Amino acid sequence: MLRHIKVSSKKEMGVTAAGFYKRQLEAKPDSLFAFATGSTPLPLYDELAAMYAAGKIDFSKVKTVNLDEYVGLPVTDENSYRYFMDKNLFSRVNIRRENTFLPDGTASDPGKACALYSAKLEKLGRRDIQLLGIGNNGHIGFNEPADALSAHCFAVTLTESTIKANSRFFASEDDVPKQAMTMGMAEIFDSELILLLCSGTAKHDVLNQAIYGPITTKNPASLIQLHPNVVVIDATGNDN
Ligand code: PGA
Repeated sequence: MLRHIKVSSKKEMGVTAAGFYKRQLEAKPDSLFAFATGSTPLPLYDELAAMYAAGKIDFSKVKTVNLDEYVGLPVTDENSYRYFMDKNLFSRVNIRRENTFLPDGTASDPGKACALYSAKLEKLGRRDIQLLGIGNNGHIGFNEPADALSAHCFAVTLTESTIKANSRFFASEDDVPKQAMTMGMAEIFDSELILLLCSGTAKHDVLNQAIYGPITTKNPASLIQLHPNVVVIDATGNDN
């Protein structure tokens, strides 16, 4: 089942999403979460940090994995996703850093690092909440539109459209890594709940195609229609 919740601002999207984490942690303090990076989840991370500061939420037993990581950026690079997660969430709540896992973007052999990450995901077990954003081109994680998708973590060559979209975080388009590691579709699906956040009018159409249009590998987000428990929190009605 897919629940489509429309909200009127990014802030409301973050607050609504945070409610899912609060309820999940009340039911199961040692939950396993799969997190995402990018601009979209920032209001959620701000809200989780505020709830933690107010004593309303406890991450001490939580474990986390992340969807993806760039290939070749050291963890000290502010564009690495490890850096992003430390800065925007992990350092702001009482999560233990050793309980947080991302693909190793610094590995000399990305293929081997992906296999290790898949093994880690399997060992940790089914996620309680898989957080997702959606790319302008319908990608989830870095599963880009293609004739075929991958079930497991793999090293992907980013599409021009993704490199362009992500260049806003870098000094120039040439600085955006050309490769990334991403959880594959089976790994994204291995979660009790998929929580998809989407904001900004520019993504209104791609989101609606994903949740009501044809299920196709040309729009990887459309595959979430096959998952039994999806919540979409949609702030694409305006740019607030
Ligand atoms: P964004 O990226 O949140 O920065 O727009 C989302 C994505 O590419 O999945």
